[in-house]
Amino acid sequence: MALERTLSIIKPDATRRNLTGAINAKFEAAGLRLVAQRRIRLTTAQAEAFYAVHKERPFFRDLVTFMVSGPVVVQVLEGEHAVARNREVMGATNPANAAPGTIRKEFAESIEANSVHGSDSAENAAIEVAFFFAGLDIVG
Ligand code: CMP
Repeated sequence: MALERTLSIIKPDATRRNLTGAINAKFEAAGLRLVAQRRIRLTTAQAEAFYAVHKERPFFRDLVTFMVSGPVVVQVLEGEHAVARNREVMGATNPANAAPGTIRKEFAESIEANSVHGSDSAENAAIEVAFFFAGLDIVG
């Protein structure tokens, strides 16, 4: 199978605790390459647009408030089966259910402050990568 790319976000709970490098080390150890990365402060409009798929969910407003509460690091990870591999490295959405050794098991504070976001399919990865990065920003 060809190389795949996926969108990752290191969330405000993790940047606040200075965990960007520790989380990136997990990605690299799993064979994922950081081919683009930018530290930004999301606006409320940007966070609402990025998570628009969840806008009817009861946690949507809290999720948006959390995602604008501090800096995030948006990044493109590249590798074989990058979408699935990244989801394995992240662990379950709720850290209480995440497997040992995963990012969320080791670092997440709660289901909301769960340290990382990763695209859930190749189709969404393409959409989410394009949300934050132009083609020229990605250096494989
Ligand atoms: P993420 O992969 O960024 O996608 C949506 C986010 O909503 C999810 O991770 C969680 O951090 C957050 N969230 C908060 N509450 C819930 C919930 N009850 N179920 C699923 N996701 C939740």
